[in-house]
Amino acid sequence: MHYSSEEIQSILISGGEISKKMDELAARVNADYAGKELLLVCILKGAVVVFAELLKRITIPCEIDFMALSSYGSSTKTTGVVRILKDLDHGIEGKDVLIVEDIVDSGVSMRYLLDSLSVRRAASVRIFSLLDKPSRRRVEIEPDYLGFEIPDLFVVGFGLDYAEKYRNLPDVCVLSESVYAGR
Ligand code: IMP
Ligand code: MG
Repeated sequence: MHYSSEEIQSILISGGEISKKMDELAARVNADYAGKELLLVCILKGAVVVFAELLKRITIPCEIDFMALSSYGSSTKTTGVVRILKDLDHGIEGKDVLIVEDIVDSGVSMRYLLDSLSVRRAASVRIFSLLDKPSRRRVEIEPDYLGFEIPDLFVVGFGLDYAEKYRNLPDVCVLSESVYAGR
């Protein structure tokens, strides 16, 4: 895909690379959750693309549900304040929950999510994340299934947005600083 150089600085991870990685990770999930009550939870909206890619590769019985947390608004830095905008439709008691996220950055959102699920008596709760920016971590969180560790760059595409744009790009791209300069 050809991108406008004013908006997109570079492609960090191509859709092709992601696809290969998803094959590996999904094979692990299929093996690890065989015979369990797998519930895949998509964290809206950013995880929607990686969630669909994972779901297509799941070959064992599973259920899905969706949750939305408050976002950054149109800033590139977390406010540290997290809220549940949309909760799960169903209870998770006895289920083996796999949370699917686009990225773990400061880790604040994931910590909040794990804390709010911890009282719901799931059999297990684990984290699947396409991307990880460990250099920006503010709380101790580590994805159980991770696609790619990335440096401290603001990325868009493959579901990730800046001010709700760019989610449709088929690669993970570095956003040009001029797009968010002065914000
Ligand atoms: P955390 O609470 O700081 O870990 O932030 C997690 C959320 O911030 C993710 O689910 C994303 O929605 C958003 N986020 C963090 N880094 C980026 C990025 O580089 N691009 C787009 N969204 C990001
Ligand atoms: Mg998100």
